[in-house]
Amino acid sequence: VITMDDLDLEGLRVLIREDLNVPVKDGKVTSDARIKAAIPTLQRALEGGAKVMVMSHLGRPEEGVYDAQFSLQPVVDYLNDALSVPVRLVKDYLDGVDVAAGEVVVFENVRFNEGEKKNDDALAQQLAALCDVFVMDAFGTAHRAQASTHGVAKYADVACAGPLLAAELDALGKALANPARPLVAIVGGSKVSTKLTVLDALSGVVDQLIVGGGIANTFIAAAGHNVGKSLYEADLTDEAQRLVQAAQAKGGDIPVPTDVVTGKEFSATAVAQTKAVDAIAADDMVFDIGPDTAATFAKILQNAGTIVWNGPVGVFEFDQFGAGTEALANAIANSSAFSIAGGGDTLAAIDKYGIADKISYISTGGGAFLEFLEGKQLPAVAILEERAENG
Ligand code: 3PG
Repeated sequence: VITMDDLDLEGLRVLIREDLNVPVKDGKVTSDARIKAAIPTLQRALEGGAKVMVMSHLGRPEEGVYDAQFSLQPVVDYLNDALSVPVRLVKDYLDGVDVAAGEVVVFENVRFNEGEKKNDDALAQQLAALCDVFVMDAFGTAHRAQASTHGVAKYADVACAGPLLAAELDALGKALANPARPLVAIVGGSKVSTKLTVLDALSGVVDQLIVGGGIANTFIAAAGHNVGKSLYEADLTDEAQRLVQAAQAKGGDIPVPTDVVTGKEFSATAVAQTKAVDAIAADDMVFDIGPDTAATFAKILQNAGTIVWNGPVGVFEFDQFGAGTEALANAIANSSAFSIAGGGDTLAAIDKYGIADKISYISTGGGAFLEFLEGKQLPAVAILEERAENG
């Protein structure tokens, strides 16, 4: 694909799609990772002399109506503090917008536009007409074929990838396409069902697949252990067995925890008990991997050449069930492997254990990160490739 750095932007109207879909509370941004990741792109466009316009979605508002709760104003306030140039929000932009070099104009939430989600052609053409160059930089939304990600890229005079999108694709490609081995993936989270495709795809390429959370419970049950009252999916134990066999057939493995930390109720004050995996009581719920398992997994991570991390291995928001996730976080931090992490809960764990600067690459993608791991083509990237080939 063509990247923004390949182009001379001087004097051009440049429309940049970012993923500024960040959590907001009481009018303030509560997690700024995605904004911080986008800022260098905006700065580069400004330095290149472009007339900079930025667009993003925020949340999932109803289309066709303005809803203040989903306004990008808090993001604009943040950008005004972070950038040395004025940043202003415009609500009405589809019929044209005046923008000068040396300022940043942010379009109000693109999901207020009728037709955004169904990738309406007329809307995409309107967006395309606003710019000379369209820069797709929203990796976090690249799995959505919508008017502001895919349609506009189809119709803009020039469409290119922004530096953040390019960096994401580069890092993820490095981790999966031609990884330094052993390649170890950690997939945590509550349900096998929501991560089945990613487990499927990864079990075929990784050397070790570490599962955690509710997902691990299904694997524990599949191995023939009682999981008590734990969250698990009885109907997917066959699937779990199949995944283990598939991994082993390729010389890899999906190791099942040998010990676990349990509680009697899901609460911040639940009492934690460590037990062997074959000693889970009928009224127990598994909330974390045990210390022996954590040590085994940490050793696997220590010897890894590449680590891909999506999802915590325990209920780490409760400290008594956080030791497993913390141990793995530290093992990743101390390993010399190329490590890549993505997903909201994973980023929260990285923050909690203060290891952000020890991870080689932290993705801004949630759903997009998963779809990439699944080996799916991201439509907003595919259209850039198409444009690069056919002009
Ligand atoms: C995300 O947070 O994963 C992206 O911003 C995409 O948001 P969506 O799932 O609402 O399309």
